Amino acid sequence: MPESSTVLLLSGSLRAASSNNAVLRTAHAAAPAGVRTVRYDGLAELPHFNPDDDTDAPPAPVAALRAAIADAAAVLICTPEYAGTLPGSFKNLLDWTVGTADINDKPTAWVNAANPGRGQGAEATLRSVLEYTGARIVEPACVRIAAGGRERDPEGRIADPEVREQLAKVLTLLVEA
Ligand SMILES: Cc1cc2nc3c(=O)[nH]c(=O)nc-3n(C[C@H](O)[C@H](O)[C@H](O)COP(=O)(O)O)c2cc1C
Repeated sequence: MPESSTVLLLSGSLRAASSNNAVLRTAHAAAPAGVRTVRYDGLAELPHFNPDDDTDAPPAPVAALRAAIADAAAVLICTPEYAGTLPGSFKNLLDWTVGTADINDKPTAWVNAANPGRGQGAEATLRSVLEYTGARIVEPACVRIAAGGRERDPEGRIADPEVREQLAKVLTLLVEA
């Protein structure tokens, strides 16, 4: 059974200095009282999706991903755009969730961290793929927070208190959904 106040944070970037990871680190720190956030960090370990392995006994990293989703009441995604769409590694993560309906009916939102006028392709693809997963998209919690070039604190979180407030609101909307 998922914990009603737990939000799983999924990043689409493997880059060490990632702005999407900075957004999710900030969300983790800004979680309001009563909301627990869990950062998923297994993206690099996931094998390429193969329907033959999409069973009740999948590879260990896939089982860990599915358990993390199952334990969460809601999901918050922050992913870059690569070549007009999602990064292949993140689409691969989502592919592992389709057949087993892990995200089905799970309140889900995303933060688009791209600069103004950019990142629409990733957002459009994310919406389309999430519809296949059966995720329940929480529209008011899907926001844009341009993260590139923003000042970060020593822990790599965005320093701007307004961003922290915005992310706290996103998390509240997700657990209330
Ligand atoms: C291979 C590659 C392709 C990219 N393609 C796009 C793109 O199509 N549209 C876009 O807005 N940004 C594109 N970008 C820019 C990234 O989305 C941007 O640098 C983003 O901040 C990277 O996220 P990260 O900081 O979390 O790693 C691309 C970057 C890379 C490395």
